[in-house]
Amino acid sequence: MTGLFRFAHLTDPHLPLLLGDMRGPSLTTVKRLSGLLSWQRKRQHIHRPEILEATVADIRAHEPRHVVLTGDIVNVALPAEFARAEEWLATLGNAGEVTIVPGNHDTYVETPWSAGAGRWHAYMTGDEGMAPGRSPEGMPFPFVRVRGPVAFVGLSTAVSTPLFSAAGRIGANQLALLGPILEKLGRQGLLRVVLLHHPPARGASSRRKGLKDHEALRGVLAQAGAELVLHGHTHMAMFDRLAGPRAAIPVLAPSSASALDARHESARWHLIDVARLPTGQWRLQVTVRGLDPATKRFRGEGRFVLMLDRLNTAT
Ligand SMILES: [Fe+2]
Repeated sequence: MTGLFRFAHLTDPHLPLLLGDMRGPSLTTVKRLSGLLSWQRKRQHIHRPEILEATVADIRAHEPRHVVLTGDIVNVALPAEFARAEEWLATLGNAGEVTIVPGNHDTYVETPWSAGAGRWHAYMTGDEGMAPGRSPEGMPFPFVRVRGPVAFVGLSTAVSTPLFSAAGRIGANQLALLGPILEKLGRQGLLRVVLLHHPPARGASSRRKGLKDHEALRGVLAQAGAELVLHGHTHMAMFDRLAGPRAAIPVLAPSSASALDARHESARWHLIDVARLPTGQWRLQVTVRGLDPATKRFRGEGRFVLMLDRLNTAT
């Protein structure tokens, strides 16, 4: 067995929103007020900083070579939140060791790239620099980062939406670029891991919260192929399969990395060990690490292996 590479996936940390973050009337929009209300009523009791701290400590203890984070770092996209998130990201690792894609809460209201999620651009920059493509919000995506045998392909589904909507969209530009990128990486024999915030599987999210162009994305993946898709958004651990050119593409999501929620799902993260067998097959071992809400300690909740027969490409 060769090429062992270990990486971690966490999502939806939703760093604490502080009352002092909301300064100045120009920052106050109806959508932000609704988000603030939701935070005060409910979300601040679920997304706990001490739980996120425990998640990060547990990830570090497993010494992954890379960490991926699939969005919703902040809540209502206030300038103070972006600044604090920048500091927090540095505690997770340096920008070369950590890859992120934004979530809908990171574009909660329309914000210029440089003042919003763009503050974290170092974590979303490809190996060849800033991506030439553009998301519907004008952000530079998709980007590619090769680490060990893995090619991480970052997509943005984050768009600012009307009140009560948490939908996402990839947009025609990213979709047009994605197919050729995946085909090229496939020809290079890399394990292609696609990162996005919203779930791509049919029915994984309601219409109000879902990915608008999920069907188009599945079309690209079915043709160009990928070995794994990782997402967040639902705050629930999920496993799906999408059609690929030769074999199904596994799709994985852990619950929110900061959740302490005895009624639903508390924090989880995934440890993924990649190995290449002498037969050429990929062996992906996924370890689910989960928070025990009673003790507030992480434990292994289970382990499964994905055997990928060969590169999932059309040719
Ligand atoms: Fe979220």
